[in-house]
This record gives sequence, structure tokens and C-alpha cells, in this order.
Amino acid sequence: MRKIGVGLVGWGTVGCGVVQVLQDNADVIESRLGVSLELRRVADLDLERERPVKVPAEYLTRNVDDILKDPEIQIVIELIGGLKAAKAVIRSAIESGKHVVTANKALLAHDGNELFGLALKNGLSIGFEASVGGGIPIIKSLREGLASNRISTIFGILNGTANYILTRMTDAKLSFADALKEAQALGYAEADPTLDIEGIDTAHKLAIASAIAFGTPIQFDRVHTEGISGIDPLDIQYAEEFGYRLKLLAIARSKNGRLEMRVHPTLISQKHVLASVKGAYNAVHIEGNPVGDVMLYGMGAGMMPTGSAVVSDLIDVARDILNKTPGRIPALAFLPDRLQKIEIKPVSDVSTSYYFRFLVLDKPGVLSKISGILGKHQISIAAVIQKGRHTNSVPLVMITHEALESDVRKALDEIDNLDIVLAPTVLIRIENGAD
Ligand code: HSE
Repeated sequence: MRKIGVGLVGWGTVGCGVVQVLQDNADVIESRLGVSLELRRVADLDLERERPVKVPAEYLTRNVDDILKDPEIQIVIELIGGLKAAKAVIRSAIESGKHVVTANKALLAHDGNELFGLALKNGLSIGFEASVGGGIPIIKSLREGLASNRISTIFGILNGTANYILTRMTDAKLSFADALKEAQALGYAEADPTLDIEGIDTAHKLAIASAIAFGTPIQFDRVHTEGISGIDPLDIQYAEEFGYRLKLLAIARSKNGRLEMRVHPTLISQKHVLASVKGAYNAVHIEGNPVGDVMLYGMGAGMMPTGSAVVSDLIDVARDILNKTPGRIPALAFLPDRLQKIEIKPVSDVSTSYYFRFLVLDKPGVLSKISGILGKHQISIAAVIQKGRHTNSVPLVMITHEALESDVRKALDEIDNLDIVLAPTVLIRIENGAD
């Protein structure tokens, strides 16, 4: 076998990256694999749009069946994104006896358990490195490089668009809307940017990575998810004064037989290495036993980094084809019958420190009223500053020591009902484990 035939479904930003990598690096790929990867067909509904990468006209088709029915194509790359149509393509590819490579984190977060089961039943592989962290080999590191470890924590920045927006809001003091426009123009954002800015894309990725790290089926619906669209630039500035940087973090922790999976805007120390991860870069900090701490860093989005991950998966799958070892590595790292549904800890049971911004009347006794309620709920104050002095209202910014989220919620309900408090209190969690 001198060639392995590949068909690409979805000729968008990442699809162009894949074509480019296959063209530019054909020689190194052949040297590593011993055969070449031959891109035989590219399917997309829109073949007219101007693209940065050219494909010979005879490869192009609007009909996916031209790929599914081509006996020379052994691997189908699904890059159309979204759920329904993409799932149909992957199912049909598997049912036609073809291996699959996909970057579709949304689909895997929702239906990965089913699709991995289908591939296994049919003796086929699904490569999905590009689904988490763009060009960073997070899946490969967790699944293979760290296979001897018990993983305790995954902690990181997994969405380039959100990180780009927060970086620009912090460094250039841009508004949220202007920063989002820039990220979209650079090609980082999903077709629907809600997925990026509301933390959903990060949650998709965390659900996939957690399944692999902790040996559980993918449980996307159990990830506590909050986004960055409600972030006021004021809080970024105030938090900077306390020595913190705002990031959209994905956090998964296994402790005492329970798993915590959450995505939300988080303050971390400016000294933490993740604080210096800027723009569309992603980074993940993994803690394992025996390895200790591992940091992975790189471009989490964009045409070429994501193209890199897709083509690396093609090489892996091609090796399995050549060696007749499809599914050599279980999709979720653990044998399917050893995956366990670990109890997920609700966010109300999480203990962490908090940043609060109260909007209050500027008069004697206000701080003592608020601190009294916090104290009653076992919440201890670490630092407090009043921003300015006005006749009507002033922001009162506070950092707490570690407290239980359910206690915090009860305290804030009480505080927000006080007549000296003029607006709902802003709450941002702080990760002290990130020091
Ligand atoms: N929209 C995603 C991001 C692309 O911004 O990170 C990569 O998954």
C-alpha cells in the first residue's frame, strides 16, 4: 500500500489548514508513515467562496456520498461542525467501513459515548485530537504520555476566543463587543460565538478531557458553565489592583471519590503561569501521580494549529490501518467496560475564595452590616477597598478567604436585599490552588 486515501467533509477555516498541512508537509508525513496520505475529495456545500488554499477542481464535490462511496478513501475527516449533519456524516462513514478524524468537540461532548461505541463495534478508529486545545496535543498527552498516572486535576484555558477577548479587555481596555469583533476577524470564533463567550465550547472540551483523564463516560451536561459576556471591564481593573488576572478557566478535580467539573470566569494570581497566557493561546495544567505537574501550551484555535492536530490524527489512524490495529488505544483511554460514572460535585459544594463588588450607599455602618452577614455565614474577609467617595453610591470591593459556595449564595441573597445595597452584587471566584 503506497497511499492512504482521505476525504475531507467541510472546507472551512480548519479544512483549509488541513489541505495546507497535507501539501506543505507531504514529505515529512511520508517519511514518518512510510506511505503518503492522498487527499482524494473535498466536500462542501459552498465551493465558490474565496479561500486561502486551493484544491484541484476535480477533487471538489457538493455530495458527501462521493466520499462515502469511494472505496479508495479509508479515512473521512469531518470538519463541518454542529451536531446533526456532522453526526450523520460520521455515522455513515463508520457504517461504510471508514475511519474518522474530527475536530467536532460539540458533537463529541453530546454524542461521543455513542459514536466511540459505534466505531469500536465496527473495528474502526475515531481521531479527535483537534477537538480539545486546537494544536496542543492534550488528548495524546492524557491518553498516552500520562497513561501510567492517576490524574487529580485538569486546570486550564481552553477557548482561544474567550482568552483573546479577556486579554484585549485587560491590556487594551477594549469593550467586550470590540474585542469579540477582533477575535471573529482573526478566525478564532465558532460560527455561533455564543458557544465561545458563554463558556459552552470550553465545557465541551473539559467534558472530553475529563472523561479521558478520570476514566468516566463523557458527561457534558454535568459541567457547571458560566461565560464572560456579563463581565464588566471595571472588575478586571479592580481585580488587577488586588494582584489578580481574569481568565475563563476550565477546572476538573477528582477528590474523595467525587469529580468537580466547572467552567467560569476565574481570578488567578498575576504570578501564576496561566496569567501570562494571552490572546488565542490555550494552556492546560495537569496534575498527576506520579508525574506531578505538567503544563501544555500552544495555539488553541485557528487554521494551521488545528490543521496540525487533524493531520497528526490522520497519521495515527493511518498507522493503525497499516498495522491492522484499529482502536489500539481506547477512545477514552480506559477500556470501555472500565469507565465509571463518578459522582459529580455540585457547584454549591465547592469551596473557594471570592471577589465581590457591592454597590452601596456611602454612609457609616454599611461595611459592618455587610461583614456581619458574611460572618454569620462563615465567610471571612481577606481584603476590602472602597473605590472613591460619592454622595450617592460607591463600589465596595472585597476578597474573601475560602468559603463554601452554598454559604456565599445565602449571604449574598441577604445582602442584596438590604436597602443600602443598590445593585446585585458581582461575584467572581478566585482559584487559590492556582498560586
Ligand atoms: N472557537 C474555538 C476557540 C476554536 O476559540 O478556541 C477552537 O476550538
